[in-house]
Amino acid sequence: MIVAIDGPAGAGKSTVARLLAARLGLGYMDTGAMYRAVTWLVLDRGVDPSAATAVADLAEQYPVTLTPGADGNRVGIDGRDVTQAIRTSAVSAAVSLVAANPRVRAAGVAAQRALLADGGWVCDGRDIGTVVWPEAEVKVFLVASADERARRRHAEMVARGEPQPLEDVRDDMLRRDHLDSTRADSPLRAAGDAVTVDTTGAAIDDVVDTIARIAHARVEAAR
Ligand code: DC
Repeated sequence: MIVAIDGPAGAGKSTVARLLAARLGLGYMDTGAMYRAVTWLVLDRGVDPSAATAVADLAEQYPVTLTPGADGNRVGIDGRDVTQAIRTSAVSAAVSLVAANPRVRAAGVAAQRALLADGGWVCDGRDIGTVVWPEAEVKVFLVASADERARRRHAEMVARGEPQPLEDVRDDMLRRDHLDSTRADSPLRAAGDAVTVDTTGAAIDDVVDTIARIAHARVEAAR
């Protein structure tokens, strides 16, 4: 089974996807981490994120590795473990530009499809149900109010010891959502057959329960 979870930043995708994967005995794949890892390498090499050819060359030359870990995926690129490094505000600020690069997307989508072909994944991102794996048995589009999403991102940054004013976190998040949903290549949008789940004010466990019920219903219906 493939469970595709898409939605904007801060809607709760990675937390929900990780818990759901553990609950259903599936692997968890964080596709945003792949675009973040490429962005980290771009910045580390001093390449301008808007230099499309140089950025795409790096993405094609250096595959991203995702290894299952207790708290989500360990992320590697160019022989380095970048699991923590990809969460900085510098990477967050540049990642939408890198992820809009068509050759970067082609490399990411090919790598994701190669992994998903084995089956047995909960996969989160922006284009999983629409582009990467439209045949996913379960497609969920997670949403939450902008204020709540900004508060969650802000709390994560505080927990990581990288506090930023809440207003700045909100502005950056909305700017990223805008770029992600208006880009030409595979923009953020719900698949026509996705179930939209609003996580505003919802307990994470309840959201996981809801999606697990949808997954069980699909398994029963396919029998
Ligand atoms: O989920 P995240 O915030 O870690 O994602 C980082 C960026 O990567 C986000 O701005 C959009 C992009 N992304 C994408 O374009 N396609 C995906 N499947 C996953 C993420």
